[in-house]
Amino acid sequence: MPTRLAIVNSPIDATSTSAWAELTALHSSFSPDLRGWFAADAGRVERMSLPLGDLHVDLSKNLVTDEILASLVKLAEQTGVADRYAAMLAGEHINTTEDRAVLHTALRRPADAEPHLIVDGQDIDADVQEVLGKVAAFAERVRDGEWKGVTGKTVTHVVNIGIGGSDLGPVMVYEALKPYANAGIEARFVSNIDPTDIAQKTADLDPETTLFIVASKTFTTLETLTNARLARQWMWDALVASGAISGDDASKTDAVAHHFVAVSTSLERVAAFGIDTDNAFGFWDWVGGRYSVNSAIGLSLAISLGPDVFGDLLAGFHTVDEHVRTTPLEKNVPVLMGLLNFWYGNFLGSQSHAVLPYAQQLNRFPAYLQQLTMESNGKSVRWDGTPVTTETGEVFWGEPGTNGQHAFYQLIHQGTKLIPADFIAVVNPAYALEDGGQDVHALFLANFLAQTKALAFGKTAQEVEADGTTGPLVAARTFAGNNPTTSIFAPALTPQVLGQLIGLYEHITFTQGIIWGINSFDQWGVELGKQLALQIAPAIQGDAEALAAQDASTQALIEYYKANRK
Ligand code: F6P
Repeated sequence: MPTRLAIVNSPIDATSTSAWAELTALHSSFSPDLRGWFAADAGRVERMSLPLGDLHVDLSKNLVTDEILASLVKLAEQTGVADRYAAMLAGEHINTTEDRAVLHTALRRPADAEPHLIVDGQDIDADVQEVLGKVAAFAERVRDGEWKGVTGKTVTHVVNIGIGGSDLGPVMVYEALKPYANAGIEARFVSNIDPTDIAQKTADLDPETTLFIVASKTFTTLETLTNARLARQWMWDALVASGAISGDDASKTDAVAHHFVAVSTSLERVAAFGIDTDNAFGFWDWVGGRYSVNSAIGLSLAISLGPDVFGDLLAGFHTVDEHVRTTPLEKNVPVLMGLLNFWYGNFLGSQSHAVLPYAQQLNRFPAYLQQLTMESNGKSVRWDGTPVTTETGEVFWGEPGTNGQHAFYQLIHQGTKLIPADFIAVVNPAYALEDGGQDVHALFLANFLAQTKALAFGKTAQEVEADGTTGPLVAARTFAGNNPTTSIFAPALTPQVLGQLIGLYEHITFTQGIIWGINSFDQWGVELGKQLALQIAPAIQGDAEALAAQDASTQALIEYYKANRK
């Protein structure tokens, strides 16, 4: 990607470009034909298969011709994708509504990166390395047993209390890399303000060996602070009941100091909660919540998986950052995948995008991507405040294969909606098991390959008849094919590979945001609900005036609640 630096003030309207006109013309005569394209073009697969770090990305089963791809790449050029990326890396305040730089890529720059990145007069590299060093040192103290609880016992469980970006990244990575957890420390994650979450996650824990990490960028989030108070009370009650602490104020403060640490940009609020700021790990307003798993927000990972694994994860992200920075647009994998998503959503009318990991360890990856993609690009105004000129963010969803096959694949194969899907698989499993001499993981991968093949090429009525089917059943058993998929294959789910995967989707998201003219780094759309919840809470708890202020439906629902609450 060329790195001409420019301050991009106003978004370029994609619909006003010559590339858009070209795509419109190509679309008017477009008739997808993966069978025909594959038959006529022996080089298609090789041409459309690209490396990205350790990932092998096969784009050949997408509904594009070379001509369409070339026009899409032109659209990226004409909407300033490269310039905006360069502006982000340089620390320009591309998060316009919050007047902030966007520097999650700085979190994974190598320790010896030169020259240092200086933004707004601040040495970003030095700041990042200082916090990473503090995280690693603390993680080692916990892992090797030097850090002890209030009764002198070592830590067996870390419980991360956070929500959104302060939860989804850590829990997804922990699930994915659990085979690397080698210190006998289990991580758990509490996010929901539904009291069930914390009650169930602490039910079998020993407070003397549990370390809570309160993870909140702002340290104002209702769910997280409520859960943190519940955890603190749970710990105090249990320690007093067992006689481990007396229960006086000094003993309670001491217990918090031994069992609570925090990750936040606001150390004042951490102190106000009662957590010693010596045990707090900072980060910066230029890290968006959903882009923060590389920051101290990953503390639970550094403890449970180890600082080296965490470092390898960051290195994986950096590989993708470098790929995006240095690779021409036509070979730039995240840019191309973003452009394909754009083609499907803006020209072929698709509304959603499935992410289907053929790796059980990635079971939380679709949930993680939902925040990354939809909180970033679910917008209808552009970064200068003007309305968008086209459709924007698609709905991301998914489940690990093969579970999805037995649930919703029917609709993808034979429904009326176009649902592009990304299939993600690894060659070597974490657990290589055999079933009567049969490699079970090979069987699993056969399903990944079968599904992408069936979606692409379908089954014609003639082929169905050739199998002996007749009459109305022929139509029911016919598969139209031409359902687009991207296959992402990697040697194994290592920390580096996981970092590359996450980085890939971060940059896909950014590419789409730029083309739509969207600021992918704010999230004003979550604010109204938060404000209303605070207004409604008193109404549920008996405040007549607050109840009267609600609309008729909300009032009726509150009355139902009051009538049924035991
Ligand atoms: O839901 C909105 C949001 O602000 C997310 O963007 C963020 O990841 C989450 O809440 C948690 O915020 P915090 O880390 O400040 O508690």
